Amino acid sequence: MCGIIGVAGSAGGTREVLLDGLANLEYRGYDSAGIAVDGGASRERNAAARGGIDVAKKEGELSALRRALVGETIDGSVGIGHTRWSTHGPPSDRNAHPHTDGAGRVAVVHNGIIENHESLRTELEAKGVAFSSDTDSEVVPHLIAEALARGADPEAAFREAVSRLDGSYALAAIVEGAGAIFAARHDSPLVLGIGDGANYLASDVPAFLEHTRDVVYLEDGEFAVLTADAWRVEDASGEPVEKEVQTVEWSAEQTGKSGYDHFMLKEIHEQPKALRGCLRGRVDELDGCVAVEGLDGLEAPAEVQFVACGTSYHAALYGAYLLGDAGVATAAYLASEYATSQPPLSPDTLVVGITQSGETADTLSALRKARGRGAETLALTNVVGSTAARECDHVMHLRAGPEIGVAATKTFSSQLVGLNLLIEELLPDASRGDVRELVSALRDLPAQVQEVLDDSRAADVVDEYFGAKSFFFVGRGVHYPVALEGALKFKEITYEHAEGFAAGELKHGPLALVTAETPVFAVVTGDGENARKTIGNVKEVEARDAPVVVVTDGVSDAAMYADSVLEIPAVHERTAPVLANVQLQLVAYHMAARLGRAIDKPRNLAKSVTVE
Ligand code: F6R
Repeated sequence: MCGIIGVAGSAGGTREVLLDGLANLEYRGYDSAGIAVDGGASRERNAAARGGIDVAKKEGELSALRRALVGETIDGSVGIGHTRWSTHGPPSDRNAHPHTDGAGRVAVVHNGIIENHESLRTELEAKGVAFSSDTDSEVVPHLIAEALARGADPEAAFREAVSRLDGSYALAAIVEGAGAIFAARHDSPLVLGIGDGANYLASDVPAFLEHTRDVVYLEDGEFAVLTADAWRVEDASGEPVEKEVQTVEWSAEQTGKSGYDHFMLKEIHEQPKALRGCLRGRVDELDGCVAVEGLDGLEAPAEVQFVACGTSYHAALYGAYLLGDAGVATAAYLASEYATSQPPLSPDTLVVGITQSGETADTLSALRKARGRGAETLALTNVVGSTAARECDHVMHLRAGPEIGVAATKTFSSQLVGLNLLIEELLPDASRGDVRELVSALRDLPAQVQEVLDDSRAADVVDEYFGAKSFFFVGRGVHYPVALEGALKFKEITYEHAEGFAAGELKHGPLALVTAETPVFAVVTGDGENARKTIGNVKEVEARDAPVVVVTDGVSDAAMYADSVLEIPAVHERTAPVLANVQLQLVAYHMAARLGRAIDKPRNLAKSVTVE
């Protein structure tokens, strides 16, 4: 999704800060990038020339923008930058942000969607305003310019423009000569970075992490004004809002690649550490009990509804399986379908939003609907201070560390572990078996993940099946979400056709697709009923000549029916999905690497999906 960076710095030289900030936001996914600067060198230069704010923007990778800036003296003491992920109008130089008014005195970057942009555009065009892009965002600089022309000061002009907007927005604007950034938030994240001699603003903390770790999260309806040495936040009526400055734990180093070719591979290898982070201080090995900070006041719910999207939805399916097993009424909903499903809510229903970023618009909307209908809500998220974390009644943090690769990896593993902890905290008898057994299984898991990472044959398997037509993934019970996740990861970063199925569903339709050219990955652990039945399904595809790869712990004889085997240690039923999934993450990664795909920024996708 689109990314925003802004800097107000007295020393000038904001251009490189903006470009580096945009590079830090690349992981969100984008198709064009741009910056606008004012003050300092830019102002002197422009005073002598045409006047106005300097803007540079380019379709494509950030490198295209950097190339366009070679030899240009563009720089200034305040600036804003943007990476765009198209919603209104195709990717192009003209549709890239920042957008300006006709005179180039105002520049604006925007994340979100202005729903009433058409009527505003018609109104402005009727007054003679000429538009230079197809975007919804361009109405904003024109509205600000109009208010300036009527004599409003820059801050009042910005506020007036914002008051005309319907929809969702994180907005940042600069006005020629004002020496400040004006910002507003509604349904799209915006965070301030409080520095020494410079203040920052971004859609996401990693944008400015090398400059400051002191942050202030804006809430919906708030406005901010930043200068080099001051910042303030006000509500919609202009009243000052006291904001807490929080220090984020993530370091700039954590958000680098640390020698790995891709963030995704780095994050796959960070899983042992991420899981230790999630477990730290939450399990008592002596007593065999679980205690999640901040959740002790939460009553055991009679029913749990999960809402989530994509990978997080697969974690929700796993969570629903655990709760169902414990006899608790539960369902996992795709967040984008939750409003239409309108499932009945009782006073004892807990609605759990699983969201790595805490900013996914569909999930936030489902949580808000649930709250609006009186349900208690809980966010299971990786991002401290995210919208989900702030809006829900309760929050549990994953503590997986920053995830930069668009494909979720370590956060999925952490979600599965986090769900075990959450469910034990809420319903101490949920494990049905020995809680100590579960606690010790969770304790051993990081080392077992390391073992899988060290010994995986995933790269060889990829060599064997390179060039196949389609790839299918099947599993049962707790391994059904793993099959779905294996297929999602695979299609997302390889761009090859992949589907995940409940193993038992193959014969109800998908089997028609199975041929010698469609490898089937089957997850089989233990030797219980699910394993036996999945082996039966493996035989069905084998009989149709499909190559079979089993991900197995070797407890059953599944390997006998397989062409290739990806081994995992024999572990607790609840932790086996994490290990099996690590093998499938590596399969997806190695296939994508062999195909030369843009692994960290798959085409058309974004890390944090802030539109519904
Ligand atoms: C896939 C992936 C997405 C996200 C989904 C929800 O690898 O990352 O499917 O899981 O967009 O994102 P969050 O968890 O941030 O709500």
